[in-house]
Amino acid sequence: MIAIGSDHGGYLLKQEIMKHLKAEGKEFTDVGCFDEKSVDYPVYAKKVTEKIQDGSCELGILVCGTGIGMSMAANKEKGIRAAAVSDCYTAEKTREHNNANVLCLGGRTLGPDLAVKIVDCFLSTPFSGEERHIRRIRMWDK
Ligand code: RB5
Repeated sequence: MIAIGSDHGGYLLKQEIMKHLKAEGKEFTDVGCFDEKSVDYPVYAKKVTEKIQDGSCELGILVCGTGIGMSMAANKEKGIRAAAVSDCYTAEKTREHNNANVLCLGGRTLGPDLAVKIVDCFLSTPFSGEERHIRRIRMWDK
């Protein structure tokens, strides 16, 4: 299960991503926001990260204007490894090397075609599990 959330800056791109996930048969839960009214992105970062922390979702997707505020807020939460990503190579590597569990995207910086490609790369790439990556993550993920 994937937890997905956005603020107003990411709302429209989130709709596109959800349409894509649905078409792909991927299960997700939308924690809001539910329209384009101005809201505070940390509220939605928290809603998504809580779903990962309580084990009801394995991965999360957060969309704000740039992806940056969401990633900063999400990374304050225990057990969360959030990455702001704007290309497929980085999406793949942050799963393989950083075991990222939250993908953060920019609704004002990415077009929908690229964004869904990034989502696919992120969701289809497993953590490598290599000792050196586990060691490095342990050095910062307390
Ligand atoms: C909201 O205007 C904007 O600041 C937010 O979506 C995000 O880009 C923050 O990082």
